[in-house]
Amino acid sequence: MKNLKVSAIICAAGKGERAGFSKNKLLTPVAGAPALWHTLKKFDIPEIDDVIVTSSACDFEEISSLCKPFGFKTVEGGKTRTQSVKNALNSVTGDIVLIHDGARPFVKKELILSCIDAVKKYDSGICALKLTDTVVSAAFGQITDRLDRECTYRLQTPQGFYTADIKRAYALAGDKTYTDDSAVYCEFISPARIIDGDEENVKLTFKSDFLRDIPAFSVSDGENVGFGVDVHSFCEGDKVVLGGIEIPCGQGLAAHSDGDVIIHALMDALLSSAGLRDIGHYFPVDDAAYAGADSKELLKRVILLLREKSYAPANISITVQAEKPRLSPYIGKMVEVLSGICNLSKEKVAVSAGTSEKLGFVGEGLGICAYAAVTVKKL
Ligand code: CTP
Ligand code: MG
Repeated sequence: MKNLKVSAIICAAGKGERAGFSKNKLLTPVAGAPALWHTLKKFDIPEIDDVIVTSSACDFEEISSLCKPFGFKTVEGGKTRTQSVKNALNSVTGDIVLIHDGARPFVKKELILSCIDAVKKYDSGICALKLTDTVVSAAFGQITDRLDRECTYRLQTPQGFYTADIKRAYALAGDKTYTDDSAVYCEFISPARIIDGDEENVKLTFKSDFLRDIPAFSVSDGENVGFGVDVHSFCEGDKVVLGGIEIPCGQGLAAHSDGDVIIHALMDALLSSAGLRDIGHYFPVDDAAYAGADSKELLKRVILLLREKSYAPANISITVQAEKPRLSPYIGKMVEVLSGICNLSKEKVAVSAGTSEKLGFVGEGLGICAYAAVTVKKL
């Protein structure tokens, strides 16, 4: 039998309304990275040849930037999951396609592989779990019927099919809406084959699902430490940028970028914790692209560099030494900015500030110095 090419569609074009966050639940940080990133990582395996991720128009930039390091394609989804899958199917090149909810980041490799095997053996593979509770149907608060528990299942994803079959099914479905892909397959092609799902392969649906203590995400080893320092001298100007916040000051800080010593020290600490080179290597001072650069954008790039090495910040501790400006009114805002970019809760980011008792270059008011210490965990 010729080697069959396998594609995967990951559905991420929803709004996540039931989770009640201010944006798509899949972009919410879980264990150091957006939830969707964990799902994408599970499909970055040699047995899957290409991956297509659906995204709504408003999340497109963020989702494509998550997909890029994996080499996954992002396509625009539709109003319903059914429409999103239909759009994504147009980009599928594999003989077999697995369709998976982006909201199921706990899927294990064994489940993905058994789904592919089921398609080869039985033409389809739908991950399913037997119910343990008694199931009834009810109307107006009264039980009307009982389902036989022995033949009642909950369906999960991934669900796998031959691409030609599922494309034909979706074409025949027209504009009808379904809650999963097996429903489309069963209606137009043939009864789909169920295989054993996994209790841990839960779908993140409500806010409480994001607070679960899921073993797959708990980190037991791989903690690293990083340390970074940066200094900039004062120059003519009227404000400084520190920790991503503009602060009025009788002078500015001389720099090729925006001169944010706090973020620069932090970036060096993060890079060193993951065994990477220093910021000068990634953002050279003689590169015009970084003239006046917003250091927050550079920090976002550093987080991506770490993620490529499977590291995420675990906690951050920063100390600034400055004779001026007075920093205490701005510390809270700095923590907010830094924790947001680093996918951390505010409790995991500390910024403290002090003067240098008129001693040394800081004490003489010649410049500002920042030190950053971080720990990072293995994703
Ligand atoms: N999905 C999609 N396109 C849509 C709707 C949903 O690709 N138009 C995706 C979601 O991003 C999710 C998966 O389908 O990964 C399962 O859907 P669900 O858990 O219902 O997610 P949401 O629709 O985002 O959540 P909610 O229904 O609470 O708004
Ligand atoms: Mg939904």
